[in-house]
Amino acid sequence: MNLEQEQGANKPFNHRYLTTPIYYVNAKPHLGTLYTTLLADVFTRWYQVHGCNTFFLTGTDEHGQKVAEAAQKQGMEPQAFVDQLVPAFQKAWDCYGFQYNNFIRTTDSAHMQAVQDWLKKLIASGDIYKDTYIGWYDSSQEAFLTEKDMEFKEGDVAPISLLSGKPAIRIEEESYFFRLSAYQERLLAFYQEHPDFVVPSERLQEVISFVSGGLKDLSISRRTLTWGVPFPGDEHHVAYVWADALLNYLTGVGYGNSDKTDQWRAWWPADIQLMAKDILRFHAIYWPAFLMASGLPLPKKLLVHGWIKVDGQKMSKSIGNVVDPIELAEAYGVDAVRYYLTRYLPITQDATYSTGDLEHRVTTDLVNDLSNLVHRMLVLAKKYDLSSLQGPYDWNTADQQLQKDVHEALTLAEREMARFYPHMAYAEVWRAVARLNSYMHEEAPWKVIKEDPKRFKTIISAVCHALSYIGAVVWPVIPHAMERMFSALGITFTVDYAEKKLVGEAIDWNQKFNLVPIEPLFVRRSRDSVMEENKKQEEVVAQVKPDNEITIDDFIKVEIHAGTIIAVEDIVGSEKIYQMRIDIGALGTRTICAGVKKYYDCDELVGRKAIFVTNLKPRKLMGVTSHGMMLMATDSDGKPTIVAPATDVPNGTRLK
Ligand code: MSP
Repeated sequence: MNLEQEQGANKPFNHRYLTTPIYYVNAKPHLGTLYTTLLADVFTRWYQVHGCNTFFLTGTDEHGQKVAEAAQKQGMEPQAFVDQLVPAFQKAWDCYGFQYNNFIRTTDSAHMQAVQDWLKKLIASGDIYKDTYIGWYDSSQEAFLTEKDMEFKEGDVAPISLLSGKPAIRIEEESYFFRLSAYQERLLAFYQEHPDFVVPSERLQEVISFVSGGLKDLSISRRTLTWGVPFPGDEHHVAYVWADALLNYLTGVGYGNSDKTDQWRAWWPADIQLMAKDILRFHAIYWPAFLMASGLPLPKKLLVHGWIKVDGQKMSKSIGNVVDPIELAEAYGVDAVRYYLTRYLPITQDATYSTGDLEHRVTTDLVNDLSNLVHRMLVLAKKYDLSSLQGPYDWNTADQQLQKDVHEALTLAEREMARFYPHMAYAEVWRAVARLNSYMHEEAPWKVIKEDPKRFKTIISAVCHALSYIGAVVWPVIPHAMERMFSALGITFTVDYAEKKLVGEAIDWNQKFNLVPIEPLFVRRSRDSVMEENKKQEEVVAQVKPDNEITIDDFIKVEIHAGTIIAVEDIVGSEKIYQMRIDIGALGTRTICAGVKKYYDCDELVGRKAIFVTNLKPRKLMGVTSHGMMLMATDSDGKPTIVAPATDVPNGTRLK
């Protein structure tokens, strides 16, 4: 074994290196590229909370015929063309909070230099040689086509590429070849020794049958193209885009860069390389063969997901159904999208995305099951002045059963993640969330408080303990919401904190919490309702009659402020009205009555932020004087919904 082969052995045992494909720059980021990059981020964070150091690499693939043609169409130099496209990827990934350590571009000079050095090495070892390529090429896939990849139809000049459905182009040119045929047996032996090299393993079978059918040497240079890495020693050629692109996984952690030797030794080989099935052949055949020829250790795993369709249709510009990641985040929130894609798109097969389904799942799982649970608990605790929780706790059998059930669900989740099935893992976690909801319902702390305040405290602490475990497991998927939840429990989230919970010796059911009320973690959102609302508003504006018009001076007379409902009580003899204490910041607290008793329990109202008219003449209702009015809107079921600011604004903020 030569020195380079030993390098894998130097990698610390707790290092995990994850990669995504590097994306072609001529399409903007979309749901498909978002999904792969999200999975890489989820697994990266998952390893972090399990005590690993991680390196997450993503980037852009910027050379090749397709890019050169697109630049030409725009009348631009290819470099300027790619430079203007790359920020869209960084912006989208940053918007989602993806924690990549390096964003590699194949136009980076260090990468290009390392590709050239690598080519030289393989030319010297005889693995690369010069000949003539005669055959067909699919430039949309940047793929040299084998007979199985094409369909000849009568009357057509060119065959149709089965990889893209587009006509192939005929190439007859001098080319450098990689001696792929020499690696057929070694590849087959490798697959046999590493049946878990590809996940799901069925996909490895497709690879095995392709390789068993015989491998031809692979053309790895293009003479008719100038937009690429110049071939060392032969200025008429550039490196074939896949030979250039695949090497990013090495150069992204410092391969071939003498300043980064330590980094390279610390991370290679990659632990998980994520991609969709479309590019499996390049990664499961060419890539290992390149590495074998270079004397380098092979990646440990290729995690291959299916193809995502939108409402059952292929995503395409012409259909107009391409989902933009940033627009999606703006409509539903980053964590809601992260959750939906991780939990509801099965990694193992092709999946369909639908906005209606996303809205439904987010409402049921995140708003109703998780967010409302946390919110109700915090509001109840605040109502009864409970903020500090400290053991020892006196757990009864119901509490112990809850702890057991939560522990079991989380253990099953761990098992599914170890199989690389995040959609299954988070289904298990949500069983724990459901269990916690049923515990809250059965133990009814809002009733218990009246007879047994000590038991009330124990129930609240049982909920907090369970949330702290669930939170550590869920953080990789919805990190922003979980960090807020931990701060509401009085804990500053760190991966070390989560690691102690998840890989610690024993589960700690004796923690301290300091409860701090927060705005709900998730609120119900619907893109259609936002759009419809806008449309209705426009119509209303158009219909306003002149005699309804008021001037800005009229409007300014009405004083409207944000405030928080801090207490709610019945009014004796009234079936409709509650009296509420409202905290209006600098305006102090005051009583305001509202006719919402039929629609809300007291618990649901306490802690809610709302909007109040504060300079209305005081009015007596059922013997109680109301000093203002809460703004509400009646929904389609006739239920008054409370109007609230979209983000948290301090009590007392005046609305203008
Ligand atoms: N540049 C090459 C990859 C080189 S890696 C050394 C490439 N780029 S790509 O922009 O076409 O990206 C392909 C990848 O994007 C897929 O493997 C997958 O990760 C993601 N997806 C793009 N569209 C997708 C769907 N509709 N569904 C799921 N994933 C998809 O190939």
